[in-house]
Amino acid sequence: SSTMTEKKYVLAIDQGTTSSRAIVFNHAGEIVSVGQLEHEQIFPRPGWVEHDPIEIRDNIREVIGQALGKADINRHEIAAVGITNQRETAVVWDKNTGLPVYNAIVWQDTRTDKIVRELGGDEGAEKYKELVGLPLATYFSGPKIKWILDNVEGAREKAEAGDLLFGNTDSWVLWNLTGGVDGGVHVTDVTNASRTMLMDVRELKWDEGVCQDMTIPMSMLPEIKSSSEVYGYGAKNTLIIDTPISGVLGDQQAATFGQACFEKGMAKNTYGTGNFMLINTGQEAVNSKNGLLTTVCYKIGDAPAVYALEGSIAVTGSLVQWLRDNLNMISSAPEIETLAETVEDNGGVYVVPAFSGLFAPYWKDDARGAIVGLTRFNNKGHIARAVLEATAFQTAEVLEAMNLDSGVDLEELRVDGGMIANDALMQFQADILGVDVVAPKVAETTALGAAYAAGIAVGFWEGEQDVIDNWQEGRRWSPNMDENERARQMRLWKKAVTRTFDWVD
Ligand code: G3P
Repeated sequence: SSTMTEKKYVLAIDQGTTSSRAIVFNHAGEIVSVGQLEHEQIFPRPGWVEHDPIEIRDNIREVIGQALGKADINRHEIAAVGITNQRETAVVWDKNTGLPVYNAIVWQDTRTDKIVRELGGDEGAEKYKELVGLPLATYFSGPKIKWILDNVEGAREKAEAGDLLFGNTDSWVLWNLTGGVDGGVHVTDVTNASRTMLMDVRELKWDEGVCQDMTIPMSMLPEIKSSSEVYGYGAKNTLIIDTPISGVLGDQQAATFGQACFEKGMAKNTYGTGNFMLINTGQEAVNSKNGLLTTVCYKIGDAPAVYALEGSIAVTGSLVQWLRDNLNMISSAPEIETLAETVEDNGGVYVVPAFSGLFAPYWKDDARGAIVGLTRFNNKGHIARAVLEATAFQTAEVLEAMNLDSGVDLEELRVDGGMIANDALMQFQADILGVDVVAPKVAETTALGAAYAAGIAVGFWEGEQDVIDNWQEGRRWSPNMDENERARQMRLWKKAVTRTFDWVD
């Protein structure tokens, strides 16, 4: 019977920007099996980015099946399920039908630039910064919800009648897995809530004033819970029936957790579609003076919340995809390394991928991308090189901001995510940062972090010490670039960035 079966695994669901994955981990924090499916990226107009929430919901079911099936694991062996997700992306759905009223508006989408400007008024981007930890920007969920209520016929009336629910994709997935119209729980965790612009970042409660300013009925909002507690159980029609779902963390916070950055001053950088660097600031929500976000890092059950400063970069890995899909300059993402190696250096070319405006440390919604420094000398190799270097330069600017905000220079940086497989990029990253860059053996830290949060809630792991004990160094890149050369490169990069400013009419 089920009660006699030994619980050997934790299942993590990672609902990311380009794909959804399910990963089974064992007690040592090792990967047992993986299921993965990409979903469509919908670009209806310049600056607009959408996902179909139904496609995401169905993919989640499918990848859970893949992961369990491949390793012949049944739900009785699963101690708990954790969820991690692309943050900020806004889904609004009808709680009576379970159907979204509009596509999910993705974090990269800039359609709310006017809403954001109007909300800021004379006070501008800083208006809610102290309260919610974030500058007013198109990146965050609140203005996206307002856009849906303002623009989808009948949505506002339904929302006011209490029929619509909002969630980031964590809530959307959780609601569906726990039963949907048939008793699904409408919950989010503190880390996701801290990305909506609607939560008082210190009180950890929805703020009535901000919701009023954004004309968002509070009845739409999920209940805010910790990142590690039992929220509900898998519903009848799922492969995880009766299994506790007990961990939720936004993907970047999950990676910070999975990287065991539990001490104040420890930082990680994830190389995904974008790059996100988080530094643990302990129980204090620190206000940034240098373009970083104040965000909740995690909250384990009843323990106090731990905070982070975050440097968010919108476009890194997705620039490589753009080179592949829109310019057809390479046929697969890894090919960029080969192409970049056909040249000695960037030949004076800089690519500034301000596709969603510029995020940290600039926060300029009206910037747009540029390739600068071109001469007749340049070829594809230089562009490929500059595309890779853009990731490293943007990261270096975020690290500068972190050092300024904290008053201490970071000594090493833990890294994870897809692009760390690119050895030349990681070496250049260490060179341009001037600090060691370190990757763990299990680089799937995002899913792992969600697994740990879920497993800790049910006693599968005892706590953070287990995470620390399981973390093992995999690779290390040390800086090997002349100081003057580093300074020269950064100077040119920053000059290139200024060329993208103030572009939108
Ligand atoms: O803030 C956006 C971030 O959560 C997206 O992460 O890995 O899906 O690109 P990723």
